[in-house]
Amino acid sequence: MSQTGNDRYYNPTEIKWITWQQIGKLLPSAKTSVLVISGRSAMRKQAETLQAEILKDHEVRLLSGVSSDPSILSVNAALETVRKIQPDWVIALGGGSVLDTAKAASLLASHPGDVHDYLRGERKVTHAGIPVIAVPTTAGTGSEVTPYASITDHERMTKLSLSHDYLFPQYAVLDPQLIYSLPAKQMAISGMDALSQAIEGYSANASTPVTDALALQAIRIILTNLEPAVRHPEDIAARKAMLNGSNLAGLVISNARTTAVHAASYPLTVRFSVPHGMACGFLLPGFIEYNEPSLEAEKRSALLRCAQVESMTELAGVVKELQRRIGLPERLSEVGVTEQDIDTIVAGGFRPDRVGNNPRKVTESALRKLLKEVL
Ligand SMILES: [Fe+2]
Repeated sequence: MSQTGNDRYYNPTEIKWITWQQIGKLLPSAKTSVLVISGRSAMRKQAETLQAEILKDHEVRLLSGVSSDPSILSVNAALETVRKIQPDWVIALGGGSVLDTAKAASLLASHPGDVHDYLRGERKVTHAGIPVIAVPTTAGTGSEVTPYASITDHERMTKLSLSHDYLFPQYAVLDPQLIYSLPAKQMAISGMDALSQAIEGYSANASTPVTDALALQAIRIILTNLEPAVRHPEDIAARKAMLNGSNLAGLVISNARTTAVHAASYPLTVRFSVPHGMACGFLLPGFIEYNEPSLEAEKRSALLRCAQVESMTELAGVVKELQRRIGLPERLSEVGVTEQDIDTIVAGGFRPDRVGNNPRKVTESALRKLLKEVL
C-alpha cells in the first residue's frame, strides 16, 4: 500500500539525531552484515572509515559511485550488487540520489525482475526489503523519511517515482557534521528543493492537519536559514537548522506529496540537465500566486503569518529575492531554455499524479503562461 489521499498520516521511519560515527548502535547485532552505499566522491572517506574502523566487527562491503539523478540503468546496477552481496542491512550515505538508489535497490533485492518492471507497474511490491539506514549529506530532498525513489527513464525522457510504504527507511540519521562541508551551490540548490516541497506540500490536496503543522515549521526554518547557510558556510547553526528544516519538509511530502511545481521541474532536469532544486525554484514563485484562489482562507493566513508577509504576491517576491541572494538563476533562458522548448516542457510536465494534487486545476495554457513569465 502507498499514499493516495488525505485520510491518514503514516511515517514509520525512526529519526535519530546522532553522529554518523554512532551508527553501529542501530544495527541489531555484531553479526549483522552491512552494505554502505555512497555517491561519486564526497562521502567515500566516511564510507571507508565505517568499513575499516567504526563497523570493523561487522562484515562491511562498499558500493560507491552512485550517480546523481539515477537512471533505470544505474538503479538496476545497484540492485545487482545488493542481490549479489545479500547484506542484512544497507547504510545509504549521500544526497537524494544515493538515498533513492539505495532504497529502491534494497526493496527490490528480494523481489523478482528489475526496477523497470515496478516503475511501469508490470510487477507489484509484495513484501519489505532489506532495512535501510538513510544518512542525508545534503539539506534538501528529505528522502531519508519518504516512501519514494525518483528514477529517470531515459527511454521515455521522464522522471518516474517508485512509491511504496516499504520504501520508508528503517532509520534516518540526522548528523549536521555532514552538512557543514556541503558546497554553497549545492546548499542553495538542495535548500530550494526543500522550500518548494514544504510550500507545495502545504497547499497540496493530500495535505492533512499533521502535514500542515510540519510544513509551516519547515517553511519558517528554511526562509530564515537558507540564505545564511549558503552565504556563510561557517554558520553551523544555520546549516544545522537547514538539515532539520529539510527533514520536516520530507515528512510533509512523505504524506502530502508534491504538486505542479515538481511535475513541471522534471522535464527541465531530464531534458535540460537543470539540477532538481534549481528547476523547482523557477516555478515556485509563479505557482505560489497561481494557487492563491484555491487555498483555504485560514490556511492562507497561517502561511502569511509564518512567512511574515501580507500577501501571496509578497511571498512569491520573497522567494524570488531569496533565489537571487543565494545565487540561483531566476530565468529559464539562463539555463539554455528557449521559447521553442516551452511546449516540450509543458508536455513533459503534465503528470496526472502530481498535477492532480495541485490545489488549483492546472491547464496546459496556464503552465505555458507561467513558463513564459520566467523565460
Ligand atoms: Fe524535490
